[in-house]
Amino acid sequence: MRKPIIAGNWKMFKLVGDSVAMITALKPLVANASQVEIVIAPPYPSIKTVADRAEGSNIQFAAQDISTEIKHGAHTGEVCGDMLKDVGCTHVIIGHSERRSMYGDTSQVVNRKMRAALNFGLAPIVCVGETLEERDAGREQDVVGNQLDESLSGLTREEMLRSIVAYEPVWAIGTGRTATPAQAQEMHRFIRQWLSARFDNQIADATRILYGGSVKPDNVSDLMSEPDIDGALVGGASLEAESFAKLVNYNR
Ligand code: 13P
Repeated sequence: MRKPIIAGNWKMFKLVGDSVAMITALKPLVANASQVEIVIAPPYPSIKTVADRAEGSNIQFAAQDISTEIKHGAHTGEVCGDMLKDVGCTHVIIGHSERRSMYGDTSQVVNRKMRAALNFGLAPIVCVGETLEERDAGREQDVVGNQLDESLSGLTREEMLRSIVAYEPVWAIGTGRTATPAQAQEMHRFIRQWLSARFDNQIADATRILYGGSVKPDNVSDLMSEPDIDGALVGGASLEAESFAKLVNYNR
């Protein structure tokens, strides 16, 4: 019913040559994976080259961020949605915790970026997740609920149907400390209930909710076996073709 998505976020890694080498190695390893959608988010300078190399394959591309602006103009350093589509993106990651914590992307900014992405027909992958301090204080649902309220404010049903949610607990990102499948499932269920309350059951049932945070080939199957986990947003293990292919081809 919900087709799983395995998404790789390369963050600020790989020069263009390394990106091409990775995609070239990856293509044949995932060529038969038809039960999952494959999305890769390279750094901006590599997107066009790798998307051209992957043309005709089952690999889709995302940007790691998008401008809040929708009209071309004097916005030094910004990249807007039609530019991302122009180089081959179909998706865009919005509100990753690294952008929230290091680059001032508040949920209000995330909301503007969501609208910008949807305006251009890009599928936004909106990230939410609590810090360790917030979890230790038992506030993970409050925090994620608030992030959803603000980040998805004003979205229509039709816009939500084109959007993807990623739950990435900050304490699990790049730490090797994965949320247990039960911990992740609990939060995914919470997010789906939020979608049901804010929209309706149909939206809640249709929306893919990805888990991110130290997903590796040896834990992906357990995570994916949970009923509300519809895919993975992967950092470290997406950088090598072999490990990313193992994630794509996880045992169902
Ligand atoms: P890691 O898989 O390296 O923990 O990163 C997760 C992440 O931030 C994906 O967006």
